[in-house]
Amino acid sequence: MQATPLREEIRSLPKPSPALAGDGSAGLEEVSTNWIKVMPQSELPEGSWHKTEVGGRDIALVNHQGQIYAMSSTCPHMGGPVYKGEITAAGTIICPWHHSEFDLRTGELKDWAPRLGGVFKVVRSRRPLPVFPARVENGDIWVGLEE
Ligand code: FES
Repeated sequence: MQATPLREEIRSLPKPSPALAGDGSAGLEEVSTNWIKVMPQSELPEGSWHKTEVGGRDIALVNHQGQIYAMSSTCPHMGGPVYKGEITAAGTIICPWHHSEFDLRTGELKDWAPRLGGVFKVVRSRRPLPVFPARVENGDIWVGLEE
């Protein structure tokens, strides 16, 4: 049986690259960051907070010991104003509502609603505080959001 023109065409196609052939690297996507200018650095002196909206997200900025951090302004437990919480010497922030504690830099959960018990403690599954990269450039604070 003679090959049809379509079969000939398929045979002449180049072999797939190793990434597409299943070497484990397929499916990895490069995450690109969209940097958004938020405010002048001079308007966020050390120890102060600023709550704002960036790219449709409610974000809080804090200047803690000269370092700018950006995070969700609402607590992942029950939506409390985490940005009004206490920053500890260990570099964590404690939500004022039920004292969930998160790493200021990474958002890692350290303690989940220790002030509550029973159903209120498990009303939402344990989760980290969303945090975002922040940088200062030419006197302005920029926040990076994944595109
Ligand atoms: S809302 Fe923040 S700990 Fe409950």
